[in-house]
Amino acid sequence: MLYENRGPFRTMVDVEKGVVDRSIFADQDIYELELERIFARAWNFMCHESQIPKAGDFFLSFIGEESVIATRDKKGELQVLLNSCRHRGNAVCRAESGNARSFLCTYHGWTYGLDGQLIGVPGYKDFYHEQLDKSQWGLVKAGKVASYKGFVFATMDPEAPDLEEYLGEVGRMGLDLLAHKGEALVAVDGVQKNLIGCNWKLAVDNLFDWYHPQISHASANMADFRRQQSRLTDEERELAAKAGIAGGGGAQRPHRVVMGAYGHAIGGPRLTQEARDARQQLRGKIGGLINDEFRETPAAKEALGEVGADTAGHPNIFPNLWMTNHQLSLRLPRGPGQCEIWWFTFVPKEATEERREEIIHGANHVFGPAGMLEQDDGENWDQSTRAMRGVVAQRYPLNFAMGLGQHAVQQASDTSYIDTLINEHAQLWTYRAWAEWMDAESWAALKENHSVRPAADSRP
Ligand code: FES
Ligand code: FE
Repeated sequence: MLYENRGPFRTMVDVEKGVVDRSIFADQDIYELELERIFARAWNFMCHESQIPKAGDFFLSFIGEESVIATRDKKGELQVLLNSCRHRGNAVCRAESGNARSFLCTYHGWTYGLDGQLIGVPGYKDFYHEQLDKSQWGLVKAGKVASYKGFVFATMDPEAPDLEEYLGEVGRMGLDLLAHKGEALVAVDGVQKNLIGCNWKLAVDNLFDWYHPQISHASANMADFRRQQSRLTDEERELAAKAGIAGGGGAQRPHRVVMGAYGHAIGGPRLTQEARDARQQLRGKIGGLINDEFRETPAAKEALGEVGADTAGHPNIFPNLWMTNHQLSLRLPRGPGQCEIWWFTFVPKEATEERREEIIHGANHVFGPAGMLEQDDGENWDQSTRAMRGVVAQRYPLNFAMGLGQHAVQQASDTSYIDTLINEHAQLWTYRAWAEWMDAESWAALKENHSVRPAADSRP
């Protein structure tokens, strides 16, 4: 057992003191165990159903570092297959997406059906003497595949709970905040992909981080990166501040953190009635920054419930799926010091051409390789990750104590949340879950030993 000499992983995440051991961002052995205990076990986001609408459509995705093919078989059913030939391991699919009748391995020609079955073996009669049992040598299939409102997920572990149970109220709320942005969402062609020299957990941690924008993104804000603020009159600018619009919201605006089982969380601004009224007045003037009309639709109201209606922060579906605005991002692990960032962009099917362009413009200019914010963020994460490697640095833990013990948890239906200002509750909740996943040797152990949600009136 790794780390016998260092105690269980939960000793590296001290939720009482709000400190986290730096080695979890640098250590190769810990990283390799993450691939096994987190990524090979969790439900991982694959793609959106609109990316594989017809039989034979496929989309290459990842589970941890392993390439998988998400496809729709002849019966129209979703399949997720490990992209590795059972003969010598070669990739059987090289294209990022497309349509195929089967997957032919380019090494010796074994051929697999859309459902992973081995259907063709060159020399089957002459060289294998018909002794190869093809039914046993299909591509490795995901343990479970499921879709939630068009978002396709897969887990390699058949012992995992079903997707809806895994997501729980918080995971579902996170996806609902994106899914209900249109009657039907369509993924825009192409996924933006880039590599940042950072540990994947820092990129996840940052999505809850509303402490950094005023410093990290000061220059982007000064440059009016979304081309919005400069169009406003003084009166509109005041409304924008009340509405909590980026750049005009200030650091004092109310925040809400929602925390659920298996590490799912949502952290960021809360839409008070004042903020909603200001947004109502600004609608139509400030274009793409006001995009919460969807909350008023009956379907969204029902899906989001009482807590979700006010929640405007960033969701993370544990381990690594972030939804923001009309986008969704994967933080894919590539070693302890590298992370591949993927950005999917969605537009409502019914959107006008103008609205579609506005959404895509925002998507290209905020995050992704050309995004003004991600360039700022990536540089900070890169420097943090480098410093984590230091033997001296590793003697000193990181501080996640902002707001620790200060704010009582409230509950509505099954959801636990904290209403406060900027804080680090969601980050600490994520690292707490990380330690629970890492300590558990199986799904059965994790089901038994995980934090479901903070208790009412507790002060995490
Ligand atoms: Fe695929 Fe040999 S590696 S056929
Ligand atoms: Fe940022």
